[in-house]
Amino acid sequence: MCGIVGYIGSQDSKEILLKGLEKLEYRGYDSAGIAVMNDNGVQVFKEKGRIADLRNIVDEDVMANTGIGHTRWATHGVPSKVNAHPHQSTSGRFTLVHNGVIENYDILKREYLQGVTLKSDTDTEIIVQLIDLFVNEGSTTEEAFRKTLTLLKGSYALALLDVENNETIFVAKNKSPLLVGLGETFNVVASDAMAMLQVTDQYVELMDKEIVIVTKNEVKIQNLNGDDISRDPYTAELDASDIEKGTYPHYMLKEIDEQPLVMRKIIQKYQNDRGDLTIDQEIVDAMNDADRIYIIAAGTSYHAGLVGKQFIEKMAKVPVEVHISSEFGYNMPLLSEKPLFIFISQSGETADSRGVLVNVKEMGHKALTITNVQGSTLSREADYTLLLYAGPEIAVASTKAYTAQIAVLSILAEVTAKSRGIDLDFNLVQELGIVANAMEVLCDAKEEFEEISRKFLSTTRNAFFIGRGIDFYVGLEGALKLKEISYIQAEGFAGGELKHGTIALIENGTPVIALATQESVNLSIRGNVKEVVARGANPCIISMKGLETEEDSFIIPEVNGLLTPLISVIPLQLISYYAALHRECDVDKPRNLAKSVTVE
Ligand code: M6R
Repeated sequence: MCGIVGYIGSQDSKEILLKGLEKLEYRGYDSAGIAVMNDNGVQVFKEKGRIADLRNIVDEDVMANTGIGHTRWATHGVPSKVNAHPHQSTSGRFTLVHNGVIENYDILKREYLQGVTLKSDTDTEIIVQLIDLFVNEGSTTEEAFRKTLTLLKGSYALALLDVENNETIFVAKNKSPLLVGLGETFNVVASDAMAMLQVTDQYVELMDKEIVIVTKNEVKIQNLNGDDISRDPYTAELDASDIEKGTYPHYMLKEIDEQPLVMRKIIQKYQNDRGDLTIDQEIVDAMNDADRIYIIAAGTSYHAGLVGKQFIEKMAKVPVEVHISSEFGYNMPLLSEKPLFIFISQSGETADSRGVLVNVKEMGHKALTITNVQGSTLSREADYTLLLYAGPEIAVASTKAYTAQIAVLSILAEVTAKSRGIDLDFNLVQELGIVANAMEVLCDAKEEFEEISRKFLSTTRNAFFIGRGIDFYVGLEGALKLKEISYIQAEGFAGGELKHGTIALIENGTPVIALATQESVNLSIRGNVKEVVARGANPCIISMKGLETEEDSFIIPEVNGLLTPLISVIPLQLISYYAALHRECDVDKPRNLAKSVTVE
């Protein structure tokens, strides 16, 4: 949450910062700002709203070779111009952008800043005021920065300007992601390599509690004690076109359409020369050493985990529990003797999941991260990583990462099963290939989904998704998709659970979207549909070929029964997309949300 950029070099920094912020807008978009510094001092431009609003107020005539920028997802203080970053110390000497949450900001305010009148409600302002205070007491900027960092409790990625040293950006990080990008005659700072791909593909990862002194020709990394650290850069393997919308009106639609391609890429990446699916032996051994798997994730990734549990239990016969990371953090169940933790996270940065990872690592347990972002925090800190190969997912609503997570989990289950001598009665490579083709059929049926969306969702205030077994889990994901982008109140329920309470909510015309892709529960879910119809519901049944009846609204192509979530979710993604579009919602940047949730 929140995105940071910085530039120091010989070009004018404004446009580089603004372009960078546009690429980071997925991280938060309630307000934004930049500060640029030249021989005449620092100028700050900030505005409530989007980067486009910020662009409108930036003075074109100001030229400056150094600058920092920020796009915000509010934690402390409402979204407003005053609370937008950058924040400045009262003297105006220091200017700071921050991503993260300072947990002890109130204590620090009381202890050190009694006499200081704060302008904003943010935790960030405390940091910049503390630095100023320590400099006034005689410290150099570097010393004051270091001293301040030792006082902070919580998470931070910081970039600081000192008006009396316009050749340097001071940078630090703890728990929140931050990278330094390298150029020939410049250096940059960014929360995500995507932001600065416009100027460089060479990046240095920063670790927690590191400080970096960035000038145009040098990047000096130190720990909090001042010891120098050397680290090689890596090449960010991102294609600039991956992060553009191209001809699509929204990233979400582009990412939905990319799903067949992602399936094929996953098959290819996980296949060996003989055409068999394969993963690192270390991971297979860890799966086999475990007496129970604990899947930890949030949101859509949690929903993928629920499907993954079915795969691992049914194919590899290892018991699995799936937990919401924010709950697991403080309500840990009694663990088995030899647990293996699997963290599922598109971004690899979700703070709730990371909190659990740190905890279980301290307890001495092994952890595997399944993520889309190589080098992300969760990937670095786990023992093993499996990548999704889905390409950057920019829309806040996760689509292709969900199906990629499910595909990778199916491969993990299959490879583990085989290593345990369990014979499966299907060939997963072939089945995933069939899935990819079926996905294409569904992506080509957009007009039908637009029509379904119009028919069932155009005026409703609420909607229910029902299913049994694996369909129930997909229903949960469908409900999340619909609510997060269209703001229609939507809930997913297990079909059999309806009459234990929820059915009381059914009124004349309430849309109930039912998934019927599982032969074993086909009759039962259709019975549940009859129950809601008898109470006035407007049913939209999405079934699978072979199980269809005349009353169904859409029939998806037939795929292996275990793999149906990979395709039954696509109609739900698309009807949510069109519902949001019909309601003129901001599809890619829904209100109050951010793509990567880096605060707990
Ligand atoms: O990056 P992660 O997969 O860890 O993110 C977890 C959730 O925040 C994320 O899936 C969220 O629920 C999506 N916006 C849903 O579309």
